[in-house]
Amino acid sequence: MGYNIAIDGPAGAGKSTIARRVARELGYIYVDTGAMYRAMAVYFQEQGLTSEDLEHMKEICGGAEIVIRYENESQQVYLNGKNVTGRLREEAVGRFASVGSALPEVRAHLLELQRKLARDYDVVMDGRDIGTNILPHADVKIYLTASVRTRAERRFKELQEAGQACVLEEIEKDIQERDERDMTRETAPLKQAEDAVLIDSSEMTIEEVVQAILSVCK
Ligand code: DC
Repeated sequence: MGYNIAIDGPAGAGKSTIARRVARELGYIYVDTGAMYRAMAVYFQEQGLTSEDLEHMKEICGGAEIVIRYENESQQVYLNGKNVTGRLREEAVGRFASVGSALPEVRAHLLELQRKLARDYDVVMDGRDIGTNILPHADVKIYLTASVRTRAERRFKELQEAGQACVLEEIEKDIQERDERDMTRETAPLKQAEDAVLIDSSEMTIEEVVQAILSVCK
């Protein structure tokens, strides 16, 4: 069993940036479970499904073989042998992933893969249900959140810097809808584990959050 740090929280709280930094500081592997749900969404899209085809998603999810490889310290996601990492951050893929991830069949399909990584390596794993469901015995559990407004503003800045047209209010609405879906679904909803340490990053820098988590680990 590796040393396991679980970081859960809503979209846009800074989980992936922070989890990656913490992993680097400790020499652990960073496991981005959202990327696995996003790869499932790419699979469904490639099979010609839309985000309304829930029944089809349940039927075919077993056909997606997702493999995680670490190349130059970065996580690469392979879907049935093809590297799909470059497509995972697309907005449409994110929305589709949020719908698909509510299905118990999709979650069950990814559960073993996530647990195996945590058995084989020292990991910082981020997601929505890592501390509550995937790794209930994780050595450290963090629940990282920030206000909806803060998260929308961060995302807005990211998109602007990437030269993409975007409207702050639309991003805010999108984040609210995603929170609602992730928190109210029946299977493994997003919620703080009882033994998780709560960190609200609204008024904190990345560096401050990283240091706060490292001090919890000590
Ligand atoms: O963290 P992210 O935006 O990459 O996640 C994409 C979607 O996958 C998000 O809507 C919630 C879902 N997800 C999940 O249900 N469970 C996880 N452990 C990780 C992500």
